[in-house]
Amino acid sequence: MDALRLKGVGYAYSDGTKALDRVDLTIGSGERVSLVGPNGAGKSTLLHILDSLYIPTEGELEVAGIQVNKKTAPQATMRAGLLFQDPDDQIFMPRVWDDVAFGPINMQLDEQEVRRRVDRSLALAGVSEYAERVPHHLSFGEKKRVAIAGLLAMDPEIYLLDEPTANLDPASRRALVNVLRSLDKSIVLATHDLTVAFELTTRVIVLKRTVLYDGDFRGLMARPDILAEANLELPSIPRLMAEWKARSGLDFEVPTTMDEALDLLDREFDRRG
Ligand SMILES: Nc1ncnc2c1ncn2[C@@H]1O[C@H](COP(=O)(O)OP(=O)(O)O)[C@@H](O)[C@H]1O
Ligand SMILES: [Mg+2]
Repeated sequence: MDALRLKGVGYAYSDGTKALDRVDLTIGSGERVSLVGPNGAGKSTLLHILDSLYIPTEGELEVAGIQVNKKTAPQATMRAGLLFQDPDDQIFMPRVWDDVAFGPINMQLDEQEVRRRVDRSLALAGVSEYAERVPHHLSFGEKKRVAIAGLLAMDPEIYLLDEPTANLDPASRRALVNVLRSLDKSIVLATHDLTVAFELTTRVIVLKRTVLYDGDFRGLMARPDILAEANLELPSIPRLMAEWKARSGLDFEVPTTMDEALDLLDREFDRRG
């Protein structure tokens, strides 16, 4: 069964703003995809829809096999978990530990299991030392990691992540990528950070009110028109290698990761002796 299926999905806010139009998308169970696009593209709106918090004003949505409408939305919401773009929309308990425990308690897990999940999730998100702190007093990046811990503690079937690495320091970002990579779940990752997207997913969806591109990164790199239309910039490694290719006249497939780039450079240096 697919995790998410959208057919002709549109969404208009009550003031008439049409945030999404004719979105067709299928995301398999256990599949990881990146969702990219300029500010105002509808990424956050789409994630709210995928969490059944907003009901599409047009088209059809299926979440884990559930056809979403007003009646089934609460049931569908349980299958997915949304990391909000702004952690202040997510965190509301006066103590970090209790905030992370809120979801598991709500899932009616027993006390021991709640404690196990909370402590483990705090550790995975690298925020164990804040367990007793007041969330409101933490920095944005710290709050974001607390919110991530809250999601990990619930461990939904479908993770919906709205710019999870924004404002994280490089080490925290790396740690989060490793945690996400270890999850055996469906993940939709909205991000402006193509480096993170490259590391975590091969499929990328470019959104600008509708789907502009749905495919792998290699295909996207070959579409400068779409990159420009979506205000995207390639990460430094593929950008450097693409520039080198253009200047040198050499013929090679542009590498996307550091390892691929190093292999290519080694081969080229060997060839030249
Ligand atoms: N509550 C709202 N009422 C009216 N328009 C909204 C509301 N929230 C978002 N929008 C508009 O919907 C569009 C998509 O916004 P959003 O989904 O937040 O984009 P993104 O996350 O890609 O930056 C934008 O034009 C935004 O101004
Ligand atoms: Mg957004």
